Amino acid sequence: MSSRHPLGLASTRAAGAGGGGTAAHAQAKSQAPASTLIDELVTRPSLHCSDSFVRVSASSGYVTDVTYLRGFRNDLGPTRLRMCAAINGFQPPGQESFDYCEVGCGFGDTTLALAAAFPRARFVGIDLIPEHVEAASRAAREAELENVRFVAGDFESMADPGTFDYVVAHGVLSWIAPQKRKALAAFASSKLRAGGLAYFGYNALPGWAAVEPLRQLIVARAESLPGDPISGARIGLELAKALRTSGARYFERNPAAADMLERLEQAGPTYIVHEYMNAHWVPMYFAQVAAEMAASELFFVGQLPLFLNFRDLSIPASMQQFFANVSGRLAYEGLKDFALNTFFRSDVFMKGAAARSDETTRAWLLSTPFGMAGDEPPWTGEAQLPNHLLRFRGPIFDAILSALRQGAKSIATLLARPELAGVPEARVREAVLHLLIGGVVAPFASPTEAKTPEARVRVASAYNRYVIARALSEDVPAILASTALGNGIRPTKAQLIALAAQLGELPVPRDADMEARLAKLAELGVLA
Ligand SMILES: C[S@@+](CC[C@H](N)C(=O)[O-])C[C@H]1O[C@@H](n2cnc3c(N)ncnc32)[C@H](O)[C@@H]1O
Repeated sequence: MSSRHPLGLASTRAAGAGGGGTAAHAQAKSQAPASTLIDELVTRPSLHCSDSFVRVSASSGYVTDVTYLRGFRNDLGPTRLRMCAAINGFQPPGQESFDYCEVGCGFGDTTLALAAAFPRARFVGIDLIPEHVEAASRAAREAELENVRFVAGDFESMADPGTFDYVVAHGVLSWIAPQKRKALAAFASSKLRAGGLAYFGYNALPGWAAVEPLRQLIVARAESLPGDPISGARIGLELAKALRTSGARYFERNPAAADMLERLEQAGPTYIVHEYMNAHWVPMYFAQVAAEMAASELFFVGQLPLFLNFRDLSIPASMQQFFANVSGRLAYEGLKDFALNTFFRSDVFMKGAAARSDETTRAWLLSTPFGMAGDEPPWTGEAQLPNHLLRFRGPIFDAILSALRQGAKSIATLLARPELAGVPEARVREAVLHLLIGGVVAPFASPTEAKTPEARVRVASAYNRYVIARALSEDVPAILASTALGNGIRPTKAQLIALAAQLGELPVPRDADMEARLAKLAELGVLA
């Protein structure tokens, strides 16, 4: 900013660091006092190449020195992948007995919860970092899960991982070398049965375009110093913060980079190492990903979260005109990413070219049980999407919601209820679809019944007992498994306290709220 020392030393140094030109470096060097972070940058020669201080896998180029953060992603669950395919008109694979593979599963939090939620299905988690796989395998043993195995190594060199209905990889595609990325598409395609679903979550353009140089800044700084990658990331972050504070034009002209810097500060150096320090980290345009997938017979079916599949709900009103004549889905997705400045995409692909039909969507909506999954937030009758407000008002919504509060039900079951007698099926379908898009209801694996307190005797599975006991002793995310929802649930603190009280682990007095929470957890199959 010109008001901050427009001709002074700090500005000159910032320009030298940001511009990276030899003349600017030399000028800054000669003027630099010895002690500041920025001076250190311009006066110390870079002696360390990335491979000398970060342990990387020789074959994949992925950082293997530092374990990743723990994380659970419910969009990777088969019920939600099926929802994405069916809402877009594609017949999804089954969810009774199926085979599921997560590539780059990290500590396995998602795959473990899904394996517990679907005891009749079979799960495989693959990860390059042995510490991840050891921890995930130990958790599977302690939680007595017999339908999941974790394998350490590169997915490309797995001896015989099996054949699958679902192959998912969140945060892998844009972190690996181009040839490895194509190998991942080929792996998913060759292991998927026809009609199986692949999910890829990746960093996208154009969102990252203005922010990518922040990575360059942090990585260049980290690589110029000896030491472990965590301290490199920490020092790189400090440099970026110092530059921002001293008015570096890059941050001024790219507010998204300043926002990202704040996010990085909160996420911490472990995240930075994985997010940024991989030699091949590269955000991608949707068109490139779709073309690479199509080359491996994986065809785009839709995107999560669900609202992004609906033109009128995702595109701001001021830009709808530009989309009016875009007919192809691939062209629409590419343009949408510019309208929304997309940073991350969660795309679902199908093995083999399948035809889409509105009847598939209708059949899925009619037969799938929908219910409420969580500790319900206070009901406002609305859901705010990034660019649209959904309102759920009127007798049809009232009747549907009061029925679903009594347990998950299909639309076919709802239509038979007296409160909805005479309401056309299409109106009920549309209302449920809006509740689904707004996140008020979720697709369930099976219908449920509201439970009474007497019906709850114990925590239903060894997995859930393991999760609750661990949450009481360790600072790791607790992800419960719900067989009814067919997914993991991130419990609220109040739910965990209620469960610990139920297990006799916490001497907490029971009140009506706690009873209601336990009843909901019983309905979800966490208590039996
Ligand atoms: C950015 S992390 C994401 C972890 C997890 N999926 C998540 O979203 O939290 C990427 C993961 O992919 C794994 N990975 C990278 N390359 C791999 C490969 N070639 N084969 C198997 N796993 C790989 C890494 O070890 C790491 O755990």
